[in-house]
Amino acid sequence: MSAFARAQLTPFALDVAQGFALCGQRKLPPRWFYDDLGSALFEAITYLPEYGLTRADERLLREHASDLAFLTHPISAVAELGSGSGRKTRFVLQAASDGRRQLVYRPIDVSVSALSLCEKELGDISDVRPVREDWLHGLEQVARERNGGPLLLLFLGSSVGNIDRESIPDFLKSIRALLLPGDFFLLGADLVKDTATMISAYNDSLGVTAAFNLNILRRINQELSANFDLRAFEHDARWNARDRRIEMHLVCCREATVRVQALDTDFVFRAGETIWTESSHKFTGQELSDYARAAGFDPVTSWTDAEWPFVEALWRV
Ligand code: TRP
Repeated sequence: MSAFARAQLTPFALDVAQGFALCGQRKLPPRWFYDDLGSALFEAITYLPEYGLTRADERLLREHASDLAFLTHPISAVAELGSGSGRKTRFVLQAASDGRRQLVYRPIDVSVSALSLCEKELGDISDVRPVREDWLHGLEQVARERNGGPLLLLFLGSSVGNIDRESIPDFLKSIRALLLPGDFFLLGADLVKDTATMISAYNDSLGVTAAFNLNILRRINQELSANFDLRAFEHDARWNARDRRIEMHLVCCREATVRVQALDTDFVFRAGETIWTESSHKFTGQELSDYARAAGFDPVTSWTDAEWPFVEALWRV
């Protein structure tokens, strides 16, 4: 493809071109999961019996909302990286707005449908001002537009685990650089637990996670005029013990040549070859406090769920 043709490509097309061109492991960045259907499928994942993560996150926020409000008083705004539907955030906003003031809530998400859900769900208890951006660009915008008192930034659902582990320290430093002294950061992170529990959380018996994973190929078909046969690919979730992460792959079951019209390219997928679509790293409590200090935060406190090992860590700038 010529440099000129390449310059015309959308960011999605560029990522697909790059991710498929690799001579080794093929890879796609997980942000492309979240079109309207992908966001709806992810929302469904959070209700699956095997996926205890969201319920643990929600339980902790519900149980500790008033402690959180007390410790972060007097924040004037809450921002959230990757808000999704914003369902869990209700407890935080309710407790922090103490009935008198209307808190500003700035959900940051790449999905339009997720952001409109946030407005619908939380508009009654806060002044919702959505930011349709990825995490760091969204936070940059929030930092530019902020006024008034301290900010509480939420990063829930163990989304931090979806970043490459080597990149987490720099990512946290970038966040820190966009905050001001006196701001707070609440990080929800999934802890290492027994392998069977972790694997079935990402390979549920209804096949919703499989559909969520395959949706990225459907999206390539639709948006980049490709001809993936979705039935030729199978969802797989693997535990990588060395790197302490679940890896989600799409396994090619039979050799296929896939035409991606928008890239004017044919890609050959060999039988058994995989497309690595996401990692979900698991943490220890100690590891998280180390991250906090290395990035210039002070750990304030943390709460751990008794049923599903998951931690809510509160840090202060
Ligand atoms: N961050 C959560 C996790 O890693 C949610 C999530 C992101 C997820 N991508 C996913 C869950 C893919 C299941 C499948 O668990």
